[in-house]
Amino acid sequence: MLFADVVRSMDMASTLEPERLREIMAAVFDRSAVVVQRYGGTVDKFTGDGLMALFGAPVALEDHALRGCLAALGILQEIKGLAAEVDARDHVALQLRVGLDSGQVVAGGIGTGGMSYTAFGEHVGIAQRMESVAPPGGVAVSESTARLVENTAVLGEPVLVHIKGTDVAIPARQLLKTVADPVLTGRHEWTLVGRQWEMGALKGLLDESIAGRGCTVGVVGAPGIGKTRLAREVARIANESGVEVFSTFCESHGLEVSFHVVARMLRTAFRLNQLDATSARALVGARLPAAEPDDVALLHDLIGIQDNDVALPDIEPDARRRRLAQLINTALLGRQAPALYVIEDAHWIDSASEAMFAEFFSVIPRIPAMVLVTYRPEYRGVLTQTPGSHTISLSPLSHSQTAVLAGEMIGPHPSVKTLVRQVAERAVGNPFFAEEIVRDLVERGVLHGNWSCYVSSGDVTEVSVPATVQAIIAARIDRLGGRAKHTLNAAAVIGLRFDEETLVSVLGDAALEELTAAELIDPVVFAPHTEYAFRHPLIRTVAYESQLKSGRAELHRCLARVIEQRDPGSVDENAALIATHLEAAGNLREAFSWHMRAGSWSRYRDIGAARVSWQRARQVADRLSAADLDGMSMRIAPRTLLCGSAWHIGGAVADAGFDELRDLTAEAGDKRSLAIGMAGWVCLLAFRGRYLESSRLASECVDLIESVGDSAMTVGLLYGPTYAKYQAGEVVEGLRLAQRRIDLAAGDLAKGNLILGSPLALGISERGAARCCLGISGWMEDFDDAIAMARGFDATTRVIANWFKYGTIPNGTLLADSGALQDTAEVLQVAEQFADDFNLGLAQLTRGLVLVHRDDANREAGFELMASAREKAVQERFTFVALPIVDTQTAKEKARIGDLDGAIALSQAIVDDQFDTGEMIYRGPAVTVLVESLLQRGAAGDVQTAQEVIDRLAAVPTDPGFVLHEIPLLRLRALVARQGGDQTGYRDWVDRYRATATACGFQGHMAIAEAMRCP
Ligand SMILES: Nc1ncnc2c1ncn2[C@@H]1O[C@H](COP(=O)(O)OP(=O)(O)OP(=O)(O)O)[C@@H](O)[C@H]1O
Ligand SMILES: [Mg+2]
Repeated sequence: MLFADVVRSMDMASTLEPERLREIMAAVFDRSAVVVQRYGGTVDKFTGDGLMALFGAPVALEDHALRGCLAALGILQEIKGLAAEVDARDHVALQLRVGLDSGQVVAGGIGTGGMSYTAFGEHVGIAQRMESVAPPGGVAVSESTARLVENTAVLGEPVLVHIKGTDVAIPARQLLKTVADPVLTGRHEWTLVGRQWEMGALKGLLDESIAGRGCTVGVVGAPGIGKTRLAREVARIANESGVEVFSTFCESHGLEVSFHVVARMLRTAFRLNQLDATSARALVGARLPAAEPDDVALLHDLIGIQDNDVALPDIEPDARRRRLAQLINTALLGRQAPALYVIEDAHWIDSASEAMFAEFFSVIPRIPAMVLVTYRPEYRGVLTQTPGSHTISLSPLSHSQTAVLAGEMIGPHPSVKTLVRQVAERAVGNPFFAEEIVRDLVERGVLHGNWSCYVSSGDVTEVSVPATVQAIIAARIDRLGGRAKHTLNAAAVIGLRFDEETLVSVLGDAALEELTAAELIDPVVFAPHTEYAFRHPLIRTVAYESQLKSGRAELHRCLARVIEQRDPGSVDENAALIATHLEAAGNLREAFSWHMRAGSWSRYRDIGAARVSWQRARQVADRLSAADLDGMSMRIAPRTLLCGSAWHIGGAVADAGFDELRDLTAEAGDKRSLAIGMAGWVCLLAFRGRYLESSRLASECVDLIESVGDSAMTVGLLYGPTYAKYQAGEVVEGLRLAQRRIDLAAGDLAKGNLILGSPLALGISERGAARCCLGISGWMEDFDDAIAMARGFDATTRVIANWFKYGTIPNGTLLADSGALQDTAEVLQVAEQFADDFNLGLAQLTRGLVLVHRDDANREAGFELMASAREKAVQERFTFVALPIVDTQTAKEKARIGDLDGAIALSQAIVDDQFDTGEMIYRGPAVTVLVESLLQRGAAGDVQTAQEVIDRLAAVPTDPGFVLHEIPLLRLRALVARQGGDQTGYRDWVDRYRATATACGFQGHMAIAEAMRCP
């Protein structure tokens, strides 16, 4: 047991700013923790100004006392360096005292999360007492520790000290130095063969990274070819150059378990492994003193150390990802010390972790850090494409290199010469294959002795070797005793890494020694729970796949229970994992519920992850037999969620799966689910620019919704059809639907808030939009009322309400005045903090439109915002209406700076597209730019073309009273008249233009008309 504490920390607290103090304490902890881990210890607690660590519990490390001594001295050494920095900067003395005691402690997991670990007992008190009597910058050990290290350490004379609160006096001795470093156990490693070029490249990249030009390197190759080995080599070099190394790994069953990999990396990087949640939170707080509390809460939740009494802030998953990325990026950018981050086996990474890493790593090129990702060739994900990334492909070793390796494995004895050659031949350049062949030969009695000095007895020319490494591993597993084989099987079901506790809970007992001796598994973590890892991923794969299905299913079932019961506080978090195991166990009904539960949990964390869970639930439900009574509703439920949520997710339209939902709900007579799915589907089609189709379907959808006859649901779902009708120019129907929602809501702002925070507020927005198109007064009041109502609601409601108002600016309705500036700035900020990417794009578009319609220095920023919104729309496939809107502004700008050809080409393309897709709301502005540019250019035929464009727009059938085409047409006709020298015609058109604009209250057009009257 080790206690380390900062000397006179109260004095420091009175001299230093709290933030700086926290920073120093975090550094003390960090550096000490590294040392503790180096000597195989476990940090048990962060006390605020010190730490408590354990060596050899609960699994005895033979030399735990010596390890403790080495760690104690190492910590003091480490802190000396820090003290020099602190002295130079803050002029305060930083010193530590360390105390050690050895003996039996009661240790065990306490609380939830599986990470908490606390030791009790008198020895804890003694270690603490030792710490208090140690000289500043020194170590004191108790008698029990002294006895254990007598031969390996130099100790001072014993002095008697009193134990607090008693009159017992016990001896304490100062630890002066240790005599020798113990040989810390590690697995045997062959001399690295070949790979000079690869190592050279990796070293070069590491040097570059240390110098501040960070990079990501992918090491790719077949199983067993040496990726992990190369990663270890780089880590070793990094370590030797003082670069800190943080590693994480992916698991084959982790593909559907969101966030596991990224959470594991963050726990490692923040050094939270094995700390209980409270200590971990304290440490994170110390590490990120300037961070917003909400952001820190998100981080806690991601890492799995959340305070269950604190509710998760109401932030959409995309905003959550952005905020976490910003938090981590700021932390990374602030870190001066070089670091190496290793992600092993990325071919098994879950998509949520992958997306987060991609964001975190965007700053790598600017910091002294290298990211090393290993993966098999089938992986093509984003981690291979991060900025500044390199790829190193590992090919098989050459024949002579393999021979050298086989020679080292088997040894130089004359009796094995032929075997070395055979092994080299059979291994086909794969080092792991070679290793396994040798192990197989040893187990079969062909080779005797130990690694690197085997001898062979019989005739080796007859020796046969299975053709694949899988066959060899299978043969080796076959030779195990019953208990060991059973243990290995269960372990393979748990995963690449597993802890003894879980294994015992599943099996009742475990034969780990035999497996360790056979080099099939290795212990990797000793405390607080012993953890093992398969020696190689292929061993796990073979152990998993060679099992009888029934036995394996039973193990999965059992494991699902264990995970559920082990950690009652994290059941939702583990839902995806439990679901995966139950699915593998063939318990489909249960697996279904857990997938759905995982979906609900992820819904607020990563909508992509939620969709993965719903898709899995859908698959599971489809596998259920028809005899299953709930079969139908189970097949419908996940599809309803997938389809209903598709519109703000992005991605391919086909993925929403509407047709299937329609068929299934028809069969089951389930109108309600169909209505939810269809409302989302209609919206999705409208956002993807399929206006004609969505408007057609909207009518059917309205009938369906009304036929269910649930007024709250009607209020909640009519948003889709209303929007579809509006965008397709069927604004009379749009107006009716908006009014219907408003009437049904009867003043209740939250009624029907299935999907949107305040359906009533948005109903009023939509009524305003429809009234605006029809030139009916009251539209402005509607817009303003809706914005005011939306204020008390979620980011989505606010963004959309804002969009409905200011999105009409291109139609000459409003001026981009100071109110517009203020509203859009405010909502953009809300969107950045809280909204999903879909709505962030919309907020950027709104803000951008306002900025470019003003005549000041911010126009540039407006174009940038619009470009960003446009890119989101294209890349993620969000709101395609952003394209004509943004492109029209671009075309207008081209014309303004004299690029008339460019303006004409672009606006012509927009107009053609609008005629194709049926987009009706933004045709006026596009046609205006086209006609104006043509007239301005005035080349042969241009006036003629301009007239044709006008006629084309005029010929578009519209709802009675629709003014969005009529008003710009009046203006354009005036311009054509003037171009042809018809002054009377011109004045006539201008007067009509002005009168109509004024009647509708369109301030933008009114201002233009005014200017046209007095040229
Ligand atoms: N060039 C080499 N020289 C000596 N030993 C090597 C070499 N390459 C790999 N080895 C050894 O071969 C074994 C298998 O290599 P490793 O575990 O790195 O494979 P891998 O590519 O990571 O496989 P997987 O995709 O299954 O994770 C290890 O014991 C490793 O130390
Ligand atoms: Mg590997």
